[in-house]
Amino acid sequence: MSNTIVLGMQWGDEGKGKIVDLLTSAFDVVVRFQGGNNAGHTVKFGDRHFALHLIPSGILRPETPCLLGNGMVIDPESLFEEMEGLAAMDIDVGERLRVSDRAHVLLPLHRAVDQAREEASGKAKIGTTSRGIGPCYESKAARFGVRMADLVSPRLEARLERLLQRYEPELRDLGWEEIPTLESLVTACRAWGERLQPHLADGVDQLHRWMEEGRDVLFEGAQGALLDLDHGTYPFVTSSSPTAGGACTGAGVAPRDIHGVLGVLKAYTSRVGMGPFVSELDNDTGEYLRARGNEFGTTTGRPRRCGWLDLVAARYARRLDGVDAIALTKLDVLDTLEEIPVCVAYRVDGRTLDTFPADIESLEDAEPVLETLPGWQADTVGTLTFDQLPKRAQEYVNYVEQRVGTPVGIVSTGPRREETIVRREVLRRGLHLENLGPILAGVAGG
Ligand code: GDP
Ligand code: IMO
Ligand code: MG
Repeated sequence: MSNTIVLGMQWGDEGKGKIVDLLTSAFDVVVRFQGGNNAGHTVKFGDRHFALHLIPSGILRPETPCLLGNGMVIDPESLFEEMEGLAAMDIDVGERLRVSDRAHVLLPLHRAVDQAREEASGKAKIGTTSRGIGPCYESKAARFGVRMADLVSPRLEARLERLLQRYEPELRDLGWEEIPTLESLVTACRAWGERLQPHLADGVDQLHRWMEEGRDVLFEGAQGALLDLDHGTYPFVTSSSPTAGGACTGAGVAPRDIHGVLGVLKAYTSRVGMGPFVSELDNDTGEYLRARGNEFGTTTGRPRRCGWLDLVAARYARRLDGVDAIALTKLDVLDTLEEIPVCVAYRVDGRTLDTFPADIESLEDAEPVLETLPGWQADTVGTLTFDQLPKRAQEYVNYVEQRVGTPVGIVSTGPRREETIVRREVLRRGLHLENLGPILAGVAGG
């Protein structure tokens, strides 16, 4: 048995969707455990293109059951929209999509609060995806949230009333005009409950029954380690735990039932929204990476800030997540560069730091210490094996392995499923993945 977590090692958008889609063929079940429709996971294969937000990328493999875990915040309207979008593309979601009855319901009220707060924050805004994620997790932590099970409970109205009482005064203060009424919330929630009923499940029981049947589970992370509420660049973070521990609490699984962690690391760095980013390139090279890497948000369409690979941050993520193997993505985006600088440490107040500081001021003031590697200036898109990569591209991958301290098991050289090098020995050893056949059938293999 091999249960694996796939996590982002940076600020999100590392290419988790592509990697999960690739790996799903070797697993029986895919589970999301945190976040909501702030996530945007792009999957491409053949001539098909999907953007997923709430539903795990595993849904694209026929018959793979998927679970939205208790740690998620779920906007039912967005979920229905996504289900309809998939149906229109001939992906049958049906009852193989299970939704934990312990997951929290993200209401229009949460979206309004998120947007009103951001608008009122001026320069201090976080640059959220304005999907209501922070307020929904806030309601959960403050213990007045509404859970999926409540949608079909006689206590629904009382719970919604309590929630509205908390947020109505704030929204009024912020001058928000369209405050939902209790009646409209109750009506919407009842309709959602009815529609979701066939999907609702005791997520913990469902997951453990799958595991007891010997099914292999892939846990699909959203966001990335540096957006983690505890470990990220607080307060410029999301409100959930996109690190390995989050999979345990967010799905209801014990650490001993996890057998491997695959960290997805982009060959450079991107970030959307506000907050410090030490290796950021606010210049033509940053613009070049954005254009060549098509770095525009899958969820909000916002241009992503771009910069060099940050090894201080990557080592931090490796520790937080216990990464067993890395999927290094978007190597092809660096193909044309003559030189490739990499951030190996931070200079702050005359000191050199090789660990990721907690305080935001240090991070804002930090200057990157760069080491420069030679570029390969050759096309890597769709390369079949690691050995066929240009020598200097191999050296870049080896350098990342050594400096992060974790082997690279997958090298991605294009957005499509087919454009991937799978190093089977690394995945076998690192993730205990024996059943690699189905993955290798879809890709090059090396
Ligand atoms: P996620 O949020 O981690 O799933 O990542 P996103 O899907 O938001 O962003 C990654 C983007 O890069 C998507 O547009 C992918 O199609 C694309 N992508 C993924 N891997 C590669 C790669 O190796 N090369 C290139 N050029 N694009 C990639
Ligand atoms: P995926 O899963 C990149 C960022 C937002 C903002 C901060 C807080 O596609 O990698 P939120 O709406 O969560 O309260 O916003 O987090 N953010 C992401 N950035 N990829 C994501 O998801 C993100 N989800 C949230 O831009 O800076
Ligand atoms: Mg994304």
